[in-house]
Amino acid sequence: MNELDALAQEARAAFASAVAPADLENAKARYLGKAGRITELMKGLATLPVDEKKSRGAAINQAKQAIEVALNERRQALADAELDQQLKAEALDVTLPGRQRGAGGLHPVSLTLERIESIFGSMGFEVADGPEIESDWFNFTALNTPEDHPARSMHDTFYVEGGSEKAPNLLRTHTSPMQIRHAVAHVKRHRAALDAGQGMPEIRVIAPGRTYRVDSDATHSPMFHQCEGLWIGENVSFKDLKFVFTDFCRTFFESNDLVLRFRPSFFPFTEPSAEIDIQFQSGPLAGRWLEVAGSGQVHPNVVRNMGLDPERFIGFAFGMGPDRLTMLRYGVNDLRLFFDGDIRFLSQFR
Ligand code: PHE
Repeated sequence: MNELDALAQEARAAFASAVAPADLENAKARYLGKAGRITELMKGLATLPVDEKKSRGAAINQAKQAIEVALNERRQALADAELDQQLKAEALDVTLPGRQRGAGGLHPVSLTLERIESIFGSMGFEVADGPEIESDWFNFTALNTPEDHPARSMHDTFYVEGGSEKAPNLLRTHTSPMQIRHAVAHVKRHRAALDAGQGMPEIRVIAPGRTYRVDSDATHSPMFHQCEGLWIGENVSFKDLKFVFTDFCRTFFESNDLVLRFRPSFFPFTEPSAEIDIQFQSGPLAGRWLEVAGSGQVHPNVVRNMGLDPERFIGFAFGMGPDRLTMLRYGVNDLRLFFDGDIRFLSQFR
């Protein structure tokens, strides 16, 4: 083997032992660089006689080309290896089962609220929404609840800082303030017709939402839900309340085997007032009277606070507890389960 073949072989071996691209470039410099072996040999040509110069030059060139070929091959090999490794590292096994997000579901109380809205919707009730931080006026005063009423006690109600005649300063203790808010807005829309002595479309609304009281045990939570109902017109009576609420309960519980009892009670904003109890005639709860709502004929003072003449407009209101309805419907005996956020409990309602 002549000296040039040996040099090419040496270079090939040097390239082969380079594992990182930087090593390979260093090796290249040793043979093809400005001070590399091939360059040195080329410089040596100058001292040769002309006839030798030609053949020697051609031989060096051949060696140089061989080295360049070896270099390019190695470069390609290193690049291929790197790509291979990258592909391997990023490899996806498309046969593996996908990572799925568990399908969510509605909270049981939300299911009840949706049910309530759809049932009352089918009876021509609008759905209204209102603030959870209320003012004294809407939560108590406008509802004919006097200053010294026990419901206003610090023990029952969450008061927030501030609070003035108009500023909201408490967490609403019931959804009844929505009676006033909704009726006032409704009356305002029809004020002109009313002032002209014409009629007004009846107010027929439900207002579901969160309510708050300082209370906590198996059947009371500081945050709970209520759904208000209000129907005001010129000819709305207690009979309509009985009909509407009975129909609602039977649809909600999917049972005609269910009776209602209107038990005399007291609320400042209704007169007369009644608690509504239901009794299943069959099933696990059969025979027990279960309280599901407060109700009554809207008090004349409240009708007046709605901006209406109580001599002309009359109607009824009710307030029910969706949490309780949910417990009854699904046979849950501790209200707190609804608000603990335990997925094992909640996922059963999907
Ligand atoms: N707001 C009453 C309560 O929270 C329920 C009620 C609503 C009673 C409407 C009568 C009319 O207990």
